[in-house]
Amino acid sequence: MKPLRESRPGGAEDRKPYDEAEFEALLDAAVDGIIITDHTGCILRLNKATERLFGYREEELIGQSIRLIMPEKDARAHDRYMRNYLRTGQAKIIGIGRELEARRKDGSLFPIALSIGEARLRDRLHFVGLIRDLTAQKRAEEEALRQRELMNHASRLTTMGEMAAAMAHELNQPLSAITNYTAACQRLLARGDAEATSDLQRALEEIGSQAHRAAEVIQRVRDFARSRASGREAVRIAALIEQIMPLLQLDARSNRVELHIRIESGLPEIHADPIQLQQVLLNLVRNAIDAMQSLPEPERRVDLRAGMLNDAELQIEVIDRGTGVSEEAARQLFTPFFTSKEKGMGMGLAISRSIVAAHGGTLDFRNNPLAGATFRVRIPVGQPLQDEQ
Ligand SMILES: Nc1ncnc2c1ncn2[C@@H]1O[C@H](COP(=O)(O)OP(=O)(O)O)[C@@H](O)[C@H]1O
Ligand SMILES: [Mg+2]
Repeated sequence: MKPLRESRPGGAEDRKPYDEAEFEALLDAAVDGIIITDHTGCILRLNKATERLFGYREEELIGQSIRLIMPEKDARAHDRYMRNYLRTGQAKIIGIGRELEARRKDGSLFPIALSIGEARLRDRLHFVGLIRDLTAQKRAEEEALRQRELMNHASRLTTMGEMAAAMAHELNQPLSAITNYTAACQRLLARGDAEATSDLQRALEEIGSQAHRAAEVIQRVRDFARSRASGREAVRIAALIEQIMPLLQLDARSNRVELHIRIESGLPEIHADPIQLQQVLLNLVRNAIDAMQSLPEPERRVDLRAGMLNDAELQIEVIDRGTGVSEEAARQLFTPFFTSKEKGMGMGLAISRSIVAAHGGTLDFRNNPLAGATFRVRIPVGQPLQDEQ
């Protein structure tokens, strides 16, 4: 790159046309790759950034087809595409710009943003391509996605941690039943008469089914706590809520809270990540239960309702009769690590909102007229949702 002549800004010097060498120095100063080709895709000129990006020296590229720096599948389609464009004027990249992959000299591929413009010079069509390396950006996006997965998993585990007491309680019942039946079996065995045999049979069956019940509790917990890549599928809200019903009931029961669930029939399917949405609902119900700790037991009640808000949106409401949200808390509720609880982590609502947002929906709340708060999840139905970012 040659140094430019010093000049006073705005002076006559600045308006003099650049000569070829000056212009080359300017092209070489560009951060993005610049490639000029003729109408067949033969490379006529390129700048220094292009050499850096692709690992070729200039003379290795000049006179070569642009296909040289394309991944094979694009290279194969190139000539056909160019013929088609020159004939019909139908552009897929030219004048538009796109994200795609490019190929370095060593054969490795990397993501780029490419925009191509065209100019008619010396009675021939020329193309000028601008190439921006997206490697760092893509890596940052992937890292952000991975972080979110980790966060999601961490918060799922926190939810589970908060529910551990309820789980221990739930497991205790079948386990003590098993202990009792086992003692009874031993007594019956000691007696050893004919009638004892049929009693024994019944007691053993009972042991089996209680053990099964305990195993089911554990299985539900493990399914939910498992680290899992998020995946979208067609989801029925009713089925999604049914699946976590045992967990919700368990939490409610052990906190002496009445849980009423009402789901409108005939709700349309949505395209969603069921485990993530289940986590949102668990978080909201957990918070609702927490907000009623100081209430006398008969007044503790949570309502979970699902229905259509209008033709386009599904709404799930979690309604409690607890403390409600103070004005001060209202401002920070969805901020990560905001908590008013001694052992709170303050991630529940922040993560829930980001999950709902990734589904194209909203999560908000309002205080109820009499007592407590209502948290509302709204998710659009029947339209393709944006991909998770
Ligand atoms: N149903 C509710 N009623 C009143 N306050 C609530 C309710 N849900 C959440 N909050 C408030 O929002 C805060 C943040 O909730 P969250 O993000 O789930 O974290 P955590 O439950 O760990 O505190 C809670 O600490 C509480 O102050
Ligand atoms: Mg919470």
